[in-house]
Amino acid sequence: MKIAPSLLSCDFSKMGEEIVRMDKAGADYMHLDVMDGAFVPNITFGAPVIKAVRKFTDVPFDVHLMIDNPLDYADDFVNAGADIITFHVEAKSDIQKTIDKINGAGVKAGLVIKPNTPASAVFPYLKDIYMVLIMTVEPGFGGQSFMADMLPKAAEIKAEAQRQGVSIVLEADGGINAGTIQQCAKAGIDICVSGTGVFKADDPKKAIEELKALSDNA
Ligand code: DX5
Ligand code: ZN
Repeated sequence: MKIAPSLLSCDFSKMGEEIVRMDKAGADYMHLDVMDGAFVPNITFGAPVIKAVRKFTDVPFDVHLMIDNPLDYADDFVNAGADIITFHVEAKSDIQKTIDKINGAGVKAGLVIKPNTPASAVFPYLKDIYMVLIMTVEPGFGGQSFMADMLPKAAEIKAEAQRQGVSIVLEADGGINAGTIQQCAKAGIDICVSGTGVFKADDPKKAIEELKALSDNA
């Protein structure tokens, strides 16, 4: 299992240092939650902040856009140094155009589905995307309870990808910690986002090691 600590739970007064702390702890990706106060009822940070902290690590940046118009802002996140840009299939932008824009810039594109969105919503785009991010909480806030009933979407997406003859990476996000990660591993998730589970741990390195060990033994 790859682990992507969510910077949403970091100390924003020293985001660069927090990224270094997660790099040293063994993070596989840095998960950056961008919220616009419209798509979700919360506002975080945008491309200038991501650009400013990009230099603190070589670990890939996994940017999760919870914004209404990802098409209009995709270039900004490309220029900020994103390695993966995921956006919601429920967003207002034209989905195919947004995927094409991200791919065209040489960045990996992914689609995110909210809890009430069926897995089938991403099926038409599987051949053009690198990743599907399955939300296991309602997007907007860290520290919420894990929704295990979202996990069957993983098998549905994998089966459809296989049918289409394409490969897809699966990520899960929300409420993932030592108590829930084994369910994600069993469901076939490749990357788990963890905000509070890693940042609020006394020793984040131990927390990441424990999450990986639990997944290996799931
Ligand atoms: C929620 C964000 C998540 C969040 C996860 O909208 O997409 O990435 O930070 O936080 P935890 O792991 O605390 O649920
Ligand atoms: Zn996220």
